Amino acid sequence: MPPTIPAPVVLVTGAAKRLGREIALALAAGGWRVAVHYRNSEQDAIKTVAACAHNMGASALFDADLGNESAVKALLPRVIAHFGQVDAVVNSASAFEQDDAATFSYTSLAKHLLSNTGAPILLAQALHTHLASRNARGAVVNLLDQKLWNQNPDFLSYTLSKAALEAANTMLAMALAPLVRVVGVAPGLTLTSHMLSDAQFAELHKLSPLGRSSTPADVAATVKFALENQSITGTTLLVDGGQHLMKFERDFSLMTSNT
Ligand SMILES: NC(=O)c1ccc[n+]([C@@H]2O[C@H](COP(=O)([O-])OP(=O)(O)OC[C@H]3O[C@@H](n4cnc5c(N)ncnc54)[C@H](OP(=O)(O)O)[C@@H]3O)[C@@H](O)[C@H]2O)c1
Repeated sequence: MPPTIPAPVVLVTGAAKRLGREIALALAAGGWRVAVHYRNSEQDAIKTVAACAHNMGASALFDADLGNESAVKALLPRVIAHFGQVDAVVNSASAFEQDDAATFSYTSLAKHLLSNTGAPILLAQALHTHLASRNARGAVVNLLDQKLWNQNPDFLSYTLSKAALEAANTMLAMALAPLVRVVGVAPGLTLTSHMLSDAQFAELHKLSPLGRSSTPADVAATVKFALENQSITGTTLLVDGGQHLMKFERDFSLMTSNT
């Protein structure tokens, strides 16, 4: 009997809730073993692991503050110690705090750059080292944002961190080929924030050339496609109903009737 090939392993950061959870579940349903990363949301992360297991099979829980370099450097080795291998990383976790030209500070910039840009680069570096040791190939998917193609002055540090990550996408795709493909996935407004009512979110979600922005299922399916299509690297898939083709003066979270 031929040896069975173990299911591939993916680390999904920020997978306790929201888009990260949706991505983890879609990948588990597609046969991936999922390392569910979280920082504070342990109870939600436990639920994600349980839901992944219900969908398909093995998944496990890993905590780390992505703003802490030592913790990020330890993360992939912990996943490898648990599963025996890792084949892909999806960087969904993100700091997302409002600042602008008037309130910008080194503190805000550093916070966003470390977790949103630095951690994905360190994880790509670690994945490359691991894949080289196995003579295997894999992929990194970085969650970006349509607002990089449609800028406004809000969320300055967040936007800078994602712009840097988009540039890193290109540089890492060149530097880490052929072992690691690096792909960006840029959602439009997909999930609401605490700054919007449900009615406001529903109206803003329609603001696109297609009359609908992205759904969590759209984003998760695109991440899965990017991980599994062996010829894509160094580019970004915009999944936003075309919102990047429009001009918005403010971030969606601040596009309320009072602003
Ligand atoms: N939601 C949207 O409509 C939308 C639109 C465009 C782009 N995106 C992008 O899609 C991705 C997912 O969006 P989302 O709305 O699901 O994200 P989110 O809810 O804002 O954040 C996801 C998770 O990131 C984790 N996180 C934040 N800082 C961290 C740190 N220093 N260390 C470790 N974990 C940290 C948190 O985990 P814990 O709760 O465990 O602490 C949080 O639950 C993001 O990269 C975002 O930029 C989203």
